[in-house]
Amino acid sequence: MVLESGAGEGSGFSDDDYSRRGARITRDRAEVWGCDLVMKVKEPLPEEYGYLRPGLVLFTYLHLAADERLTRELLGSKVVAVAYETVQLPDGELPLLTPMSEVAGKLAVQEASYYLKRTHGGKGTLLGGVTGVAPGTVVILGGGVVGTNAAKVALGMGAQVTVLERNPRRMAHLDDVLHGRIQVLMSNPYTVEQAVAYADVLVGAVLIPGARAPRLVTRDMVRTMKPGSVVVDVSIDQGGCVETMRPTTHSHPVFEWGGVIHYGVTNMPAAVPRTSTVALTNATIGYAIALARKGWRAACRDDPALARGLNVVEGAVTHPAVADAHGLPFTPAEEILREA
Ligand SMILES: NC(=O)c1ccc[n+]([C@@H]2O[C@H](COP(=O)([O-])OP(=O)(O)OC[C@H]3O[C@@H](n4cnc5c(N)ncnc54)[C@H](O)[C@@H]3O)[C@@H](O)[C@H]2O)c1
Repeated sequence: MVLESGAGEGSGFSDDDYSRRGARITRDRAEVWGCDLVMKVKEPLPEEYGYLRPGLVLFTYLHLAADERLTRELLGSKVVAVAYETVQLPDGELPLLTPMSEVAGKLAVQEASYYLKRTHGGKGTLLGGVTGVAPGTVVILGGGVVGTNAAKVALGMGAQVTVLERNPRRMAHLDDVLHGRIQVLMSNPYTVEQAVAYADVLVGAVLIPGARAPRLVTRDMVRTMKPGSVVVDVSIDQGGCVETMRPTTHSHPVFEWGGVIHYGVTNMPAAVPRTSTVALTNATIGYAIALARKGWRAACRDDPALARGLNVVEGAVTHPAVADAHGLPFTPAEEILREA
């Protein structure tokens, strides 16, 4: 194993931690990219495109549907590119996205409670309340992985929690696991409007796979929120579900609109890299070992979930959404895997 020197530093893992376990540490990027299998977290940067070559297997987040330039680079270089975000289990779960959604969901309420403080510009409400004083209200749009984790933290803090969902099975699940402790409502324009108006904290956590997030909260609805309330739109990485939200960064996480604090950080897990790295690696490691030991072809033949991660294979686009997004021809991965 070869590690780019300092690669683990941001997450609290030193070069020594890796070399003690047998890794070779190098400052030479070309040496790292010379390996048969290269793992990263984010997509290759333009200055790394020159290292892409036939025979290389790249395993990382790619989000190619939103990046035509990278798609064409991967195609032209004839690499095999396996994207974390499209590895998919038979029940539809995306196991390499779930850990990041858990982190973002839990962080959403932590961040909101921070900005709710008067000293940080908020209305000065303690989410848990105290004896004789009502707790704060947390409204969560979407009861998937992000929404459920946000609900758990909000409950743990003692807040009054409402989740709006539109999938009856998810609603039943939330009711089963958090029964009686949160309010689960069918999401429609009327219930969203009512709930937004009483929220001290509004968390956007909706997802329509492969599509832009639906704009559920209009500008007019935000105007009905109390001054100093906080909106954390976790779905901002898919365009956001609150009309007044725009993407923000960890160095400038919030802005104010109509007296309401808006938090729209697109990569929330980066704030807690120690937890995020371990959570992501727990999920990727089994697939990485299979790719390394068996080679990509056998590993993907043996595991259809991993095969769904194949986005670009030796000059062909093997994921329908990527082909669709850029008007490129689509070759089913199964067809390539059938070849000797
Ligand atoms: N900002 C970040 O750092 C960050 C990190 C992780 C995830 N995310 C994003 O968070 C979002 C949620 O991710 P997830 O893993 O929880 O997805 P998920 O699929 O587990 O959950 C999304 C839920 O939204 C529900 N939904 C769809 N339309 C709805 C509507 N109109 N009203 C109410 N609910 C509706 C779905 O039924 C589903 O249960 C995604 O956009 C994801 O990309 C962002």
